[in-house]
Amino acid sequence: MSPRLAPESARVARPGVLTAFVVLVVASAVGYGAAKLATPVVHNRYFPWIVGRGLGLAAYFALTLLICLGIWLRHPWRFRWLLVRPETALRLHAALASATILLVLGHIASLASDSYAGVGWVGALLPGRSSYRTVPVALGVAAFWACLLVAGTARLGGRLVGRRWLPVHRLAAPIFATVFVHGVLAGTDTERLRLVYVASGAVVLLLWLTRHLAQQPVLTSQTTVDGRTLHASLRSKGAA
Ligand code: HEM
Repeated sequence: MSPRLAPESARVARPGVLTAFVVLVVASAVGYGAAKLATPVVHNRYFPWIVGRGLGLAAYFALTLLICLGIWLRHPWRFRWLLVRPETALRLHAALASATILLVLGHIASLASDSYAGVGWVGALLPGRSSYRTVPVALGVAAFWACLLVAGTARLGGRLVGRRWLPVHRLAAPIFATVFVHGVLAGTDTERLRLVYVASGAVVLLLWLTRHLAQQPVLTSQTTVDGRTLHASLRSKGAA
């Protein structure tokens, strides 16, 4: 019986061995190339600082998207331009919140572990304890704790804290303003990033102003996602 099975198992095994060999060769070549390219940067004493700054900028972009989407979820104009379904927008909003927090954690860890930076773990976690740019860094630290509060209460919303998460969520706009000032004052390359800050700040400000000043729609129906209510009206006050 076994001699008849042998050629069959050999046919199945051969492509597997070949694939493993190709993967090994390609992975080794790519790994070797990446290591060669990264060595000067990784062994650079500024490596944690460079990574920390990169993660700070990535966190800022994620936060900007998060705030814009959050405002849009309640914006009176959202029914005129149905860009994304409310349920999808809410899930994307939650995903962006997690991404922002993870990126900020990376930003903090990299800068705090840089022994030349003058920030340290105490300065990274307690406002006003960084010897490097004390006030701008303190603003970042305060914004980080406030972010955790907003995200934590929203996560528990509908279950443990009921609708009390909503007033806490209104801290989002001051948090963005605080992070904006933090980025501008703490960043070493603010001059080169001026356009990024002006554009992102203007978009958030415009959305926030129009969200509060534009006509509120009359609510006709609502849907609930993850314990939160989204209003699905298509009419505006004064419309037929
Ligand atoms: C929501 C929280 C935060 C966000 C979105 C954020 C974002 C940013 C951004 C965009 C920059 C400018 C980067 C550059 O110009 O290259 C920056 C710089 C900086 N941040 Fe934060 N940050 C936050 C919280 C914190 C915290 C908690 C700390 C404490 C360690 C911190 C420490 C710093 C430092 C030391 C710099 C200066 C880096 C440089 O010289 O460019 N940040 N941050």
